[in-house]
Amino acid sequence: MTEIPRGTLQEQTFYEQVGGEETFRRLVHRFYQGVAEDPLLRPMYPEEDLGPAEDRLRLFLMQYWGGPRTYSENRGHPRLRMRHAPFTVNREAHDAWLRHMRDAVDELELAPELERQLWEYLTYAAASMVNTAG
Ligand code: HEM
Repeated sequence: MTEIPRGTLQEQTFYEQVGGEETFRRLVHRFYQGVAEDPLLRPMYPEEDLGPAEDRLRLFLMQYWGGPRTYSENRGHPRLRMRHAPFTVNREAHDAWLRHMRDAVDELELAPELERQLWEYLTYAAASMVNTAG
């Protein structure tokens, strides 16, 4: 009888199910194309070059969904609300952020159930980042 080694039947992580690093690279790259053109969001990003911010968001999302832990190796505990405290995240910024994310998610053309999970998280996370009324 052929034995199935312990551990080989583990479920795939969400990170693996959506296609791994390549998918997160596409998602976040498309998102930052939107940010680069956005008159409200673009001035909020301190650096001239959006490349490093793109790397941080991609690595964070990869880690969140069960991929490599490179984000925390580089940046420590995410503490995202605290890291957003220097920025005015009001309703308008929230809406613009989610609008670019929506475009980016649409372009991935994920299976509906995976897309739903990803979008549910992004909308929840965006709402929790709001730190300024109005
Ligand atoms: C709701 C509207 C949001 C706005 C306006 C916003 C804006 C920003 C800005 C201006 C930065 C600094 C750029 C940089 O140097 O990295 C930043 C960083 C970051 N944001 Fe957001 N953000 C929003 C929501 C979110 C959400 C929902 C997430 C997670 C799902 C997120 C994850 C991150 C991460 C991981 C960083 C880099 C943190 C670090 O390691 O320094 N952001 N965000």
